[in-house]
Amino acid sequence: MFSERLKILKEKGLLREIKDRSSPQGPKIRFDNREYINFSSNDYLGLSSHPYIIDKVKKSLDAYGSGTAASRLLSGGSTIHKELEDKIALFKGTESALVLNSGYAANTGIIPAIADEDTAIFSDELNHASIIDGCRLSKAKTIIYRHKDVSHIEELIGKDNAKRKIVITDTVFSMDGDIAPLRDIYNICLRWNSEHGTPNSTLLYIDDAHGTGVLGNGRGALSHFDMKPEPSIIQMGTFSKALGSFGAFVAGRRDFIEWILNTARSFIFSTALPPGVIAASMAALELIEGDTELIQRLWSNRDKVAHGIKNIGYDIMGSETPIIPVRTGTVENTLRVSGHLYEKGIYAPAIRPPTVKEPRIRITVTAAHTDEDIDRLIEALREV
Ligand SMILES: Cc1ncc(COP(=O)(O)O)c(C=O)c1O
Repeated sequence: MFSERLKILKEKGLLREIKDRSSPQGPKIRFDNREYINFSSNDYLGLSSHPYIIDKVKKSLDAYGSGTAASRLLSGGSTIHKELEDKIALFKGTESALVLNSGYAANTGIIPAIADEDTAIFSDELNHASIIDGCRLSKAKTIIYRHKDVSHIEELIGKDNAKRKIVITDTVFSMDGDIAPLRDIYNICLRWNSEHGTPNSTLLYIDDAHGTGVLGNGRGALSHFDMKPEPSIIQMGTFSKALGSFGAFVAGRRDFIEWILNTARSFIFSTALPPGVIAASMAALELIEGDTELIQRLWSNRDKVAHGIKNIGYDIMGSETPIIPVRTGTVENTLRVSGHLYEKGIYAPAIRPPTVKEPRIRITVTAAHTDEDIDRLIEALREV
């Protein structure tokens, strides 16, 4: 039964396979005893194997053990969980924060916890799958707006008479690498509240998974736009991308965080993150706070790659960040380009439907790439 379905996927070029590394994550990785330059990870600052972080993780194992063996609301949490929450709240400029087990668990737990049957959610058509699933799990009505189209949001909000409204957007879109116009979106929420609602009846929920550690000197999308962490803005983000660790957070008002702690099912009914993971996230935040050079290097590498790819005639589909999609047209062509890169010792995977509507090669640049890595990528793309 499933083999027939798999056969169809294979015929369409849509069958996915896991590729397991035999090396740490990093700018160079090994598959099948061969080294590849890696343009596929979200390890934007190269922190996933950083010696300072590894040392902190080892110490945390001695102090707290390797597993947590219960949810946070039982005995799973430890004082370093709370320390990380205090640190992330300070980092994001909010009253409070809560650590959740992954970005996926955060969106699928928080959204149903805040959006009831009296709520309308307005969601960007390119929002991450975890947001889509969070909306599906909630009892709210979900209304999709055209990608980054502020006037479409305004029109849709105006037409809807739900008691509560939430606009949800990725800050950096994970497959396109462009940035949501947060200030304009927030102004719509404010205007709607002052003309039709109560002060915080329309919330803005941002998923800053790819903004944290990358935008606004690492502090994320609100800093990038010089915006304040207003009470009606909910900031969700992950430790799993630029921070090189694992897990997620949500930051906002104290009462909001307490509500999530009491109602988000993915928080309540899941074992707390292991201490090693918490220690890694803490250490990564310390590094980012103390060293903006890493972020500068990320951006200078990003600009080199983006210019190099554009100069040889490729379309990078509106990318503004270290996520650089390369338009390749058909699934067949995408597999051909990805295959050629792989032959040349470069790993940049083909991204195909249903992950995206339009197939592409998704290149992610990190601070750890060298000029030679970048030159080899551009040369291989030129050959295709
Ligand atoms: C925008 C966005 N939100 C959420 C997630 C999920 O995060 P995690 O991998 O920590 O589950 C991802 C990454 O996959 C993402 O790109």
